[in-house]
Amino acid sequence: STYRIASIPGDGIGVDVTAEARKVLDRAASAFGFGLEWTEFDWSCERYAKTGTMMPEDGIETLRAFDSVLLGAVGFPGVPDHVSLWGLLIPVRRAFAQYVNLRPVRLLPGTRSVLEGRTAEDLEMVIVRENSEGEYSTLGGRHNAGRPDEFALQESVFTRTGVERIIRYAFELARTRSRRVCSATKSNGIIHTMPFWDEIFAEIAAQYPDVESEQMHIDALAARMVQRPDRLDVVVGSNLFGDILSDLAAAVTGGLGMAPSGNINPEGDHPSMFEAVHGSAPDIAGQGIANPVAQVLAAAMMLEQLGEKAAARAVNSAVETALADGSVLTPDLGGTATTAQLGSAIADAL
Ligand code: NAI
Ligand code: MG
Repeated sequence: STYRIASIPGDGIGVDVTAEARKVLDRAASAFGFGLEWTEFDWSCERYAKTGTMMPEDGIETLRAFDSVLLGAVGFPGVPDHVSLWGLLIPVRRAFAQYVNLRPVRLLPGTRSVLEGRTAEDLEMVIVRENSEGEYSTLGGRHNAGRPDEFALQESVFTRTGVERIIRYAFELARTRSRRVCSATKSNGIIHTMPFWDEIFAEIAAQYPDVESEQMHIDALAARMVQRPDRLDVVVGSNLFGDILSDLAAAVTGGLGMAPSGNINPEGDHPSMFEAVHGSAPDIAGQGIANPVAQVLAAAMMLEQLGEKAAARAVNSAVETALADGSVLTPDLGGTATTAQLGSAIADAL
């Protein structure tokens, strides 16, 4: 079969790493006998700077026709970050019910953790982030501007449907892994939404007696991720907590250049979208030295979701082979190779 893929390279290093992911996927497609039909869109902060919008008005409708979306990263100095988030990423995630943001991390060969004495097994985790509601909300506002009693109010939205489906996803995923789920909460400080989250977590945990469950306050959980990462496997959190934990998880394993993510519509009735956890990295943009591994691994997650499981496994192994070989590493991994050289080494390892 042939899959129609929308590619949105975006800004900065998003463009470089997406080119490498595409190179690797094209090689995988010819090796495994399926087709990939790419359509590229220039939706980005650069486009915003020129036209005033991140994507055309019918952008969502355009994407609907695709089997999947591969996104680089968006963000450009001078364009406020909330513009890129609310002008592109959040509308896509919500329009296509991509309510799971899946962020697996593991220590890859040839790289080392910032944590001393940790094995690859200790550091294998997956953050399941709620991706459609929660703290990322437009409800609220600024009041009494210019007065001494000025204030800002920001509301969160947690629906029963939204919380149930993400927690259920985490338990189902745990059944395919370690059978352990840890839920991030803060019900001591946040007294409406978090007790609601905890209650639903307990209800669903009761339906999975074969899966070990626990909940931790987000602060203690962050500390555990650094001190006892071996005690964590599937970690489920709200939109904000999951976002923070996944950068932390990436940082304690191989760094941001190694962490992929999928914005997944589990029902498969709309396209899912895959991207690296990292952003557009303006500090190294245009130099051709970004690490493409995160984006290549995101592309492998895309293959997995499209049902091309053997090809997905092959891409993951090719990344491991290239990293283990160690002769072609980007500067963040201690080497001197370019983005394209590491991308080609991965493609060749296929
Ligand atoms: P960032 O992830 O772009 O960069 C953080 C640090 O990690 C930088 O020092 C960067 O050089 C390094 N880094 C990141 N990816 C790397 C890679 N592949 N290889 C080597 N080094 C890498 O985060 P930052 O600086 O907070 O944000 C920059 C821009 O990206 C902002 O405009 C932000 O809004 C945007 N952003 C976009 C995201 C998206 O499109 N989903 C996600 C996160 C940030
Ligand atoms: Mg983030």
